[in-house]
This record gives sequence, structure tokens and C-alpha cells, in this order.
Amino acid sequence: MKTIVLYAVDSTNTFLKEYIRQRDVSLPMCVAALRQTAGKGRYTREWSSPPGGLYMSIAENLTHKNIPAIAYPLCMAVAVHRWLKKTYKISDMFIKWPNDVYINMKKICGILSTVQTCGERSVIITGIGINVRNEVPDNGTSLVLLLPERSFNLHTMLQALVREIENTDDTMESVRAYITNYLWGKDQIRKLTIHGQETRGIIRGIADDFSLLLEDEHTGTITKHSLGEME
Ligand code: BTN
Repeated sequence: MKTIVLYAVDSTNTFLKEYIRQRDVSLPMCVAALRQTAGKGRYTREWSSPPGGLYMSIAENLTHKNIPAIAYPLCMAVAVHRWLKKTYKISDMFIKWPNDVYINMKKICGILSTVQTCGERSVIITGIGINVRNEVPDNGTSLVLLLPERSFNLHTMLQALVREIENTDDTMESVRAYITNYLWGKDQIRKLTIHGQETRGIIRGIADDFSLLLEDEHTGTITKHSLGEME
């Protein structure tokens, strides 16, 4: 896919959104940057983006893979997880619903999807931030912290990850099965916060529509959740 690499940008998500709005480009396409000055995280949080991290966004037509919007960050999380596992032989790596890749209790990759309408078409822009050799916050980890003896070439990594994303022949069912296999917190009691409201439950898996299945620890009732953040 067409890939643009920038030295610095406010946010690859914002740049790509504007780039597509102004041109009739064919999708998918990718924008990456060596650093971001206003990286965006979920819920209007900042995504700290100093040099040394992998910051990229991919735009696709929403109908491209015939999957619901909620599944996009999860499909990307599967591609990132699979690629990291294959390339760096990392174990204890999990997909944290709805959009992160974790190594045990530490975040290595955050993913953020936004949908935008450009004239007749709906485009989904999915940003991926991977901690490589950048400084990370306390709740994060990076490839260099895990594999201090290895060196990391961001351009090679970008090309390899784009190839992984392009070549995936995942179906909804295979993505769901993959996530279920590597689901962070599976069968554990966890807290889910939705608009400030907390729900506790045992994480049981992912439903057909990619919502999270939580079991009430007292009654055994299973409920579906399509929004929220897990702790
Ligand atoms: C999160 O975990 O809150 C999502 C973080 C997403 C960060 C990536 S870095 C590349 C792209 N550009 C942005 O501004 N954000 C995403």
C-alpha cells in the first residue's frame, strides 16, 4: 500500500484524515512518523510520541473487509500481536479488549480507530503506536526493555508490519478465535469502566459482534459490552 513517512507531525491520524479529505486517493494507504507532537490516545488522552517509537496510521474504506467498525482496532491488534510474536518471539503477550496489546500488565501497543465520511465514502483510520526504543510511561513497556540485546530499525519494522496487515486473510471468525486465545484477563475478575461507571466481572471472551463477554461472579449471568476500558 502507498506509505508516506514523515519526520515529524502533530498526529498521523489527523494528517491522514486531512490528506484523504483533500485528495481522491486510493485506499488503503499508510502514514508513519518518526515522532508526533500531538499524538492522540483514546478518550482524548495524549499519546506520548518521542523519537524511537513506531507511529503509524492506516486508512481503509469502511466496507473494505466487510467487518463492523468496532472490529477494526481488534483486527489491527491481531496483526500487531501476530507480527510481534513471530518476529521477536515474545511470550506472555495479550490482546486487551478493545484495542491494546499488552505484555503481562504493561502496554506495548495502543490502537485508535476513527471513522470519517469523505463525500460518498466512509473511511476508517486506524492509528497504531508501538513502543520500540522510546521512553515509556510507568504502565508501559517497550521492545528494547524486553529485548535489550536486539537492535530495531523502524523503517524495516514499518515495512514488515504493513506487509503483515496487507497479507492478512483473517475472517471475522479467525480474528475472534485469535483474540479469544490471547485475551488479556481471560477467566479473571476485572473491572470495566464505561463513562465513569464501573462493572466487575469475569472476562469470558468475545461475542460474534466483537463485544466483550463478562460473567457476573455471583449470579453467573453473562452480559455483552461494546464500550469501556478494562483494568
Ligand atoms: C490508546 O491506547 O489510547 C491509543 C493510542 C494510539 C496511538 C497511535 S500513534 C499513531 C496514531 N496517531 C495518533 O495520534 N494516535 C495513533
